[in-house]
Amino acid sequence: MENFNFCVGTRILFGKGQEEKLPELLRPYGNKVLLTYGGGRIKRTGLYDRIKSLLHEFEIFELGGIEPNPRIESVYAGAEICKEEDIDVILAVGGGSTIDCSKAIAAAAYYEGDAWDLILHPDWIEKALPICTVLTLSATGSEMDNGGVITNLKTKEKLGFGNPLLLPKASVLNPENTFTVPASQTAAGSADIMSHILEVYFDTRRAAVPDRISEGLLKTVIQYAPIAVREPENYEARAELMWTSSLAINGICSTGKDCAWSCHPMEHELSAYYDITHGVGLAILTPRWMRYILNEHTVEKFAEYAKNVWGIAEKADLFETANAGIDATEEFLKSLEIPMTLSEVGITEEHFTEMAEHAVIFGGLSEAYVPLKAEDVVNIYRMCM
Ligand code: NZQ
Ligand code: ZN
Repeated sequence: MENFNFCVGTRILFGKGQEEKLPELLRPYGNKVLLTYGGGRIKRTGLYDRIKSLLHEFEIFELGGIEPNPRIESVYAGAEICKEEDIDVILAVGGGSTIDCSKAIAAAAYYEGDAWDLILHPDWIEKALPICTVLTLSATGSEMDNGGVITNLKTKEKLGFGNPLLLPKASVLNPENTFTVPASQTAAGSADIMSHILEVYFDTRRAAVPDRISEGLLKTVIQYAPIAVREPENYEARAELMWTSSLAINGICSTGKDCAWSCHPMEHELSAYYDITHGVGLAILTPRWMRYILNEHTVEKFAEYAKNVWGIAEKADLFETANAGIDATEEFLKSLEIPMTLSEVGITEEHFTEMAEHAVIFGGLSEAYVPLKAEDVVNIYRMCM
């Protein structure tokens, strides 16, 4: 196991009714709150009204309309409000897009140049407003990590950024707030959670503690995602998925590991060019990436995955065991009714080469578990058609 530095300073308030603690969570930071949210779903679910009435003692400013795959323009708009109104704290209510955008706003609030600079150079972030979140969709883990992803449609870039200053101070995780998430988004979110775990499970460094935690979390998604898709108001299933989403990417699964991620850089190109749902892109890519990198060096790890996660009995041939685990992964994602080809989501081969080149450069794919060149990425994209 490699040396590591693990610290997650986000206070988690988990369970029914935990929004009621928002006043006490926000009070230490000041009185002026920027409330951020997405396309208005929280108004339809009643969460917006509930939060506004809970926060009656605060001066509330608002930035709504944050897009899925949030755009840099929303960051500019939020930063302007923070500067003009001298905001003390940001309260992000929504899924990963709203939370990610709020992280970029928190940093941009103290930056005089173009906020896009901070996405390109997150180490330039020297100060950020405090952020608290109320999570409404289990997927990205943004509620308990210090990263985010912002899209610049003009340059066709969707880039991840991260800085410890952006870690949410506190996150309210009330599973009831995810009851209204549609089946398709629940499925995509579950694929995203699984991918966050798989990205670090397959690593050249061996480390039993994170791997056994990862296997447990993967089994939790496999058990509860189908229930949440079928029964949107099943509290237990929503609760298990919600807590798994946070643990999948808060660093615990990657302790002692070091490789660059593989599917996420490839997916970010798909959503940068075609604005598709992040989890759908990952579900399409993951089994194909697995098949592409299965070789004599990786087969043992894939066989371990097949046995420990999918309960597949060891077969005489290690490759057979490994392939059965990959088949099970693909079948599971299909069973959630996620579109499983790029053509189904309207993607053609037109931009494969440039997307692959970007993915290699921005995603550091040469440092991945199995290093990938642009031609490998094109091959994987083709396998997804
Ligand atoms: O826009 P609103 O009205 O909020 O509606 C959203 C949106 O249409 C809706 N939704 C959210 N909560 C709901 C709900 N609908 C009904 N009931 C609810 N309770 O769902 C749609 C998708 O929301 P979004 O926030 O975009 O989804 P998600 O949480 O999957 O976030 C995706 C973004 O996060 C980035 C992705 O790249 C993508 O841009 N990621 C962030 C990461 C991080 N911060 O660490 C890691 C991830 O790998 C990922 O890349
Ligand atoms: Zn993801």
